[in-house]
Amino acid sequence: MKYLVTGGAGFIGSAFVRLVMRTQPSARVVNLDKLTYAGNLENLTSVASDARYTFVHGDICDKTLVDSVMREQKPDVVVHFAAESHVDRSILSPAPVIETNLIGTFTLLEAARHHGLQRFHHVSTDEVYGSIDSPHEADEDYPFHTSSPYSASKAGSDLLAQSYFTTYKLPVSVSRASNNYGPYHFPEKLIPLMISNAMQDKPLPIYGDGMQIRDWLYVDDHCRGILAVIEQGRAGEVYNIGGNCSLPNIEVVKRILKALGKPDSLMQTVKDRPGHDRRYALTNTKLTRETGWEPQMTFDEGLQQTIEWYRANPEWVARVFSGEYRNFYETNYANR
Ligand code: NAD
Ligand code: TYD
Repeated sequence: MKYLVTGGAGFIGSAFVRLVMRTQPSARVVNLDKLTYAGNLENLTSVASDARYTFVHGDICDKTLVDSVMREQKPDVVVHFAAESHVDRSILSPAPVIETNLIGTFTLLEAARHHGLQRFHHVSTDEVYGSIDSPHEADEDYPFHTSSPYSASKAGSDLLAQSYFTTYKLPVSVSRASNNYGPYHFPEKLIPLMISNAMQDKPLPIYGDGMQIRDWLYVDDHCRGILAVIEQGRAGEVYNIGGNCSLPNIEVVKRILKALGKPDSLMQTVKDRPGHDRRYALTNTKLTRETGWEPQMTFDEGLQQTIEWYRANPEWVARVFSGEYRNFYETNYANR
């Protein structure tokens, strides 16, 4: 089996590459990644010298490059992670989000439809369903209701991918996952930002009242879910992948502070995110029924492992902080 993974140097893509290389001895992986601020080859040092792994540095919006990768590498399966993935950045600067998430996905789909593939798997998100009132949960037929340029771009790419199954019979599958967390997570997202700030005794910025609810999914559980969809799920179908772990943000942050032995007084309420979705909630029933997949990691254990990883990798954190992250942090948080 040969996988073409896009965005394999990012948080979830790199976990997927490491998982495949670890568990499928005869698999080969080609990683196509532009190495934006979020792409980091340090996430892949464990596989970099493996003969089964190939890295291609490039942009999924580059039609010539994508066509040639598809033609020369002849993958059996495409797993499409590459995206601009952060809601706050999409609010500050939507252009790259629209370019990569929509045009990039379109470019890949066009290239894929002219090559015989066993599967084109598109990695989508539960954010396409928008904010959902309690006690409801989204199944795969729940309507889209997007709030941010990020979620709107993911909704567009999700529908575009499905249209290539309906129209061209490209064997597309789509998974919509909830909020991931785990090692190698870029510290712009809630959990790694709070861990790294708390470790440095910096204030922890809580948007609004902190009562927004997210469903937390350990990154390796997500990657196993994607493999379950590719191996056992049906082409033309959509599968939710959730962590069965809904928590308000404030509770997540308090657990981080407790695990690190830091005081709650580090939390600082700041101006809310515009268009902030109050609650995400989804059900995994379809994926579990069809493949037997279930999340394995409990939140407390996953959080402990994540914190331990950040403690054990201060150089990774320091290098991320020394890059453009500093500018982003200033822009996003200075006037909140
Ligand atoms: P990430 O931001 O950590 O990584 C994105 C990767 O894509 C980086 O390696 C980056 O260099 C690469 N990339 C960006 N633009 C590119 C382009 N034009 N060409 C080639 N490569 C490009 O993102 P992530 O958190 O790992 O998310 C991966 C996927 O999973 C995304 O599609 C995201 O929408 C989806 N998703 C994420 C979550 C989450 O909680 N993080 C939840 C559900 C779904
Ligand atoms: P985030 O990790 O950006 O994921 P998403 O917005 O895609 O769900 O944010 C998760 C939640 O945490 C969301 O409700 C916004 C909130 N949040 C804060 O309160 N403070 C922060 O500094 C960040 C980054 C997020």
